[in-house]
Amino acid sequence: MTPKKELQLAYGLIIILFLVGVISYAGFAAKTPDQPVRIMYKGVAGKVLFDHKTHASEAGYGLSCSDCHHHPEDEDTSLRACGDCHQALVEGQEFPESCTECHEPDEIEDSEIIKKTDAFHSQCEECHQESGAGPEENRCSWCHVS
Ligand code: HEC
Ligand code: HEC
Ligand code: HEC
Ligand code: HEC
Ligand code: HEC
Repeated sequence: MTPKKELQLAYGLIIILFLVGVISYAGFAAKTPDQPVRIMYKGVAGKVLFDHKTHASEAGYGLSCSDCHHHPEDEDTSLRACGDCHQALVEGQEFPESCTECHEPDEIEDSEIIKKTDAFHSQCEECHQESGAGPEENRCSWCHVS
């Protein structure tokens, strides 16, 4: 091999390694999207501490993202807050504004959208009942502390 060819080979390798690095980095980033650790809700019924990390991690309760983030979305990285879709409608509105980011109005005109608090209660409690989590009695204070 001539020195010139060796140099070309070296440059070629550098470029390939760089590309592999970029691709691995992007792949890794896509598999570990940002997500909250704990969320504290403060309302008239008392505080609720939701341990997102424990609910969603393999070492915790082992649930998958789509068990809760139920509506189809583009990618895990774009999972959004429940309240983006579950909103109280103002007078004359048929569906929340956010729906039209992804849908034509005529696709969704018959959809029933429950309000945010109902969405939480319904989803949280349904799963807890199914998985036998939490006591039957005192069920408000199990989540609403103080
Ligand atoms: C599985 C957990 C859980 C249980 C059990 C639960 N809640 Fe909640 N509740 C929540 C969460 C989370 C929110 C916050 C939702 C939000 O911000 O809209 C909430 C919000 C509320 C709100 C609205 C508070 C506000 O400021 O708007 C009321 C009222 C309420 N709960 C009453 C109750 C009552 C009454 C019970 C018992 C029958 C109960 N909750 C049981 C989790 C729970
Ligand atoms: C047990 C139900 C549950 C599981 C499992 C779960 N999430 Fe969540 N996630 C929630 C709730 C509830 C919120 C708070 C939404 C709100 O307050 O409106 C949230 C919020 C988020 C947010 C912040 C959204 C925003 O804009 O505020 C991201 C990002 C997110 N989750 C990603 C994930 C990913 C990624 C996974 C899987 C590894 C996952 N979640 C698993 C229930 C869950
Ligand atoms: C991108 C929009 C969107 C987001 C974000 C979203 N939802 Fe929904 N949700 C819907 C739509 C649309 C429906 C009604 C149609 C359906 O069942 O898919 C619905 C229905 C529901 C229902 C009623 C299901 C039934 O069996 O009738 C519950 C409970 C619920 N959502 C809870 C949640 C919770 C909790 C979150 C956050 C972790 C959430 N949703 C996030 C769009 C959304
Ligand atoms: C981030 C994008 C996004 C948002 C925001 C969104 N959706 Fe969807 N929705 C989808 C995708 C993707 C599908 C699955 C593909 C399809 O059927 O179009 C879907 C499916 C649906 C379906 C058909 C469900 C079925 O089982 O056939 C309905 C109804 C619907 N969405 C209603 C809504 C409503 C109502 C809202 C606002 C509260 C909303 N969506 C917000 C992306 C979105
Ligand atoms: C898809 C299933 C599922 C959903 C949805 C879910 N949980 Fe849980 N949750 C569990 C399981 C499983 C446990 C563990 C119970 C046990 O250890 O006995 C648990 C435990 C808890 C606990 C007690 C231990 C801890 O981690 O703090 C609280 C409080 C709680 N959940 C709040 C919530 C709230 C608030 C929501 C809704 C925002 C919610 N959960 C939604 C499955 C779920």
